[in-house]
Amino acid sequence: MHRLSLLLVALAGAAYAVPSPSPRSAHILHEKRVMEPTGWRQSRRLDADRVLPMRFGLTQQNLHRVEEMLAAVSHPESPAYGKHYSAAEIVDAFAPSKTTIDEVTNWLVGSGISRDRLRLSINKGWIHVNATTSEVEELLKAEYHVYTHPSGVEQIGCHNYSVPAHISGHVDLIKPTVHFNHRAGANAAGKIRPLPNIVSGPKLTGQAATITPNLANCNKMITLDCLRALYNIDYTPVSTDKNTFGIVEFTPQAYLPGDLDLNFTPSLVGVRPISVLIDGAVVQNTSQSFNFNGESDLDLQYGMGLTAPQPVTLLQTGDLFEGAGFDNWLDAIDGSFCTFEGGDDPEQDGIYPDAVGSPQSCGIIKPPNVVSISYGQDEATASAAYANRQCTEYAKLGMLGTSVVYSTGDDGVAGFSNVCLDKNGNEVGTSGKVFNPEFPATCPFVTAVGATQINPGATVNDPEGACEQVIFSGGGFSNIFAMPSYQANAVNAYVAAHLNPSPYPPGTFNTSVSRAFPDISANGANYVIGIDGQFGLVFGTSASAPVVASMITMINDARIANGKGPVGFINHILYSPIFAPAFNDITMGGNRGCGTPGFNATAGWDPVTGVGTPNFARLLEVFKSLP
Ligand SMILES: *[C@@H]1O[C@H](CO)[C@@H](O)[C@H](O)[C@H]1NC(C)=O
Ligand SMILES: *[C@@H]1O[C@H](CO)[C@@H](O)[C@H](O)[C@H]1NC(C)=O
Ligand SMILES: *[C@@H]1O[C@H](CO)[C@@H](O)[C@H](O)[C@H]1NC(C)=O
Ligand SMILES: *[C@@H]1O[C@H](CO)[C@@H](O)[C@H](O)[C@H]1NC(C)=O
Ligand SMILES: *[C@@H]1O[C@H](CO)[C@@H](O)[C@H](O)[C@H]1NC(C)=O
Repeated sequence: MHRLSLLLVALAGAAYAVPSPSPRSAHILHEKRVMEPTGWRQSRRLDADRVLPMRFGLTQQNLHRVEEMLAAVSHPESPAYGKHYSAAEIVDAFAPSKTTIDEVTNWLVGSGISRDRLRLSINKGWIHVNATTSEVEELLKAEYHVYTHPSGVEQIGCHNYSVPAHISGHVDLIKPTVHFNHRAGANAAGKIRPLPNIVSGPKLTGQAATITPNLANCNKMITLDCLRALYNIDYTPVSTDKNTFGIVEFTPQAYLPGDLDLNFTPSLVGVRPISVLIDGAVVQNTSQSFNFNGESDLDLQYGMGLTAPQPVTLLQTGDLFEGAGFDNWLDAIDGSFCTFEGGDDPEQDGIYPDAVGSPQSCGIIKPPNVVSISYGQDEATASAAYANRQCTEYAKLGMLGTSVVYSTGDDGVAGFSNVCLDKNGNEVGTSGKVFNPEFPATCPFVTAVGATQINPGATVNDPEGACEQVIFSGGGFSNIFAMPSYQANAVNAYVAAHLNPSPYPPGTFNTSVSRAFPDISANGANYVIGIDGQFGLVFGTSASAPVVASMITMINDARIANGKGPVGFINHILYSPIFAPAFNDITMGGNRGCGTPGFNATAGWDPVTGVGTPNFARLLEVFKSLP
C-alpha cells in the first residue's frame, strides 16, 4: 500500500512536468485581405512541401493602456504633464508578456511543430519557424496560392487565415499571409502619396524680390508674412541648438536647392536642411517637375521660413528603386519598431535591404521634437492590424515627447483622386457613395491638420473659412479607430447638433463612436512657392501641416529657453475647453466629396477644420504656463 501511494505521487509529479497541452478552441478569422491585388492572377495552389519562413508577431503588453499612459504625460491637468518616458521605459512597458510567449509556443508545439524548430527573436516580439505549406495551412485553416504578375513575377499568399480563439489575443499578425506585395518590380511607391495641388493658372515669374510682401493680397497669394499676420506670429527662435524639427519626404519627391533660395527671405538664401537619408534615400534631381519637387519645396520653404534660424532636419525616406512607406521613417527614429513592434509590411512599406543594396535604417537618429508629414493613404487601403500597429507607435512617440503632425488629405470626405467606398468599405472609384477617410490622420495619436482659406475678397483680419479652392479639407470619421476620450465631448456635441439626424443615408460614414478628424487646421490655399525655377501657387493640407508643426516648434523653443521640455502630444490641450480662446473657430465652408456637400464647418469642433486655426501668441502663453 505504502509503495503504491508513493508511485502515484511520482506519476502525478511527472505528469505536471510535461508541458500542458494547449486548451482546444475553435479557429476564428484573424485577418483577411482588404482588397484583391490588382494586376495579379491567382495561378495555382502552392506546393504542399514548400517551406515557408513563418513569423508570428506577438501582442504587446499594456497596449490597452497606451491611451491612458499617453494622457498621463500630455493632459494639462495631469500631475505628470510633460514628464515624458525614456525609450527604455517604453520598450519594457510594451514587450510581450511571458503568458503570450507561452500560449503561442504551446499552440505551435501542440499542433505538431516541435519546440526545437521555434526561435524567439531577441526582443521577444516574434516567433520564427520554418514550416511546410501543408503544416501552415492546417495551423491557420488557410489556403496558399501562387499569384502571377504579367511581368512574370510570382508571389505567394492566402486570402484569409484563422487562429484558435484563445490565441487570437496573443498574436497581432502572422506573415507571410494576406499582406500582399503589390510591387511588381522597381519604383512603385506603394499607396502613399504626397498631397499638394498646383494650379497652372497664375504663374509668377522673376526673382524673389518681385514678390513684395503685401498683406493686401493674401487672399490671392499666401506668403510667410500673410501667415504671421493671420496667426499672430511674432517670434524668433533662440534655443535652436537644443531644439529639433523634422520634415519627412518620400523619394522620389525631393527639394531643389535653387527653389529654396528663390522663395527664401535673404537671411536663409544658401541655407539647406540637415539631410538624414533613410533606407538608401537620395535627394534626387534627375527628374524635375511639380510631381517630383512640389511637396518637398513647399514643406521646406514654409517650415524653414517660419522657424528660422532653427535648423530643420529633412527625413528623406526610401531609395529610387522601391520608395518607402510610413513604417520606414518610423524605423529610422525607433530601432525597436524596426525589429519588433512594427515589422515592415511588403504591401505598404519598402523592404530593405533591397535589390539595389540599400540598407535598412534602424534607429539612426533620435526622434525630433516635432515631425511634419504631408503624405497619406486612404485608410481603406490599410488593414486594421497594420494601421493599429503603426498608430500605437505614434502614441509611443508622444510618450517620448515628440509631436507627430499629419495632413488630412485634399479631397474632402473622399479619398485620393475623389475615390469613395461601397457599403462594404471597398474602394470603388468616384462613383462610390461612402466617405473614404485618410490614414495616418485617422490615428488618434497624431495631430491631424485640415485646411482653411482666406475667403475671396477677404483680408488677414477677417475670419477664414474651410478651404474650398482647388482642394477641400480632408475630414470625417475613421472606420478603424475608436474615438479617443480627449475628443469625446467636442465630437459628441457636433454629432448631436448636426448629425442627429444625419442628412446622409445610414452607412455613408461611420456613425459609431469612432476617431473623428481633423484636430486643428491652418491655411491651405494659394501658397507662393519656388518650384522648378519659377513661382507657382499651391493648395493643400500639405501646406497646413508644416505651418502647424512650425508653430509647435517655436513653442518648444520658448519652453526650452525657460528650462522646460518639448510639448509632445498636444491633442489633449487642443480639445481642453479652457484653452479654446487660443484658437480661431472656423464656421464657414465645408468639405465636399463623394457626390455630397460633405460636412460643414460650424461653431465648435467640426470634421472639416477641427477646433479651428491657432492664435500663436495665445497658444504660446498657454504652453509657457504649463510645467
Ligand atoms: C529557416 O531557414 C533558413 C534557410 O535555411 C534559415 O536561414 C533560418 O535560420 C531558418 N529559420 C528558423 C527559425 O529555423
Ligand atoms: C477565406 O478564403 C477562402 C479561400 O481560400 C474562401 O473560400 C473563404 O470564403 C474565405 N473566408 C472569408 C471569411 O473571407
Ligand atoms: C544635381 O545635383 C548634383 C549634385 O548636387 C549637381 O552637381 C548637379 O548639377 C545637379 N543637376 C541638376 C540638373 O540640377
Ligand atoms: C466604425 O468604427 C469602429 C471603431 O470605432 C469600428 O470598430 C467599426 O468597424 C467601424 N464601422 C464600419 C462600418 O467600418
Ligand atoms: C450643412 O449645412 C446645410 C445648410 O445649412 C444643411 O442643409 C446641411 O444639412 C448641413 N450638412 C451637414 C452634414 O451638417
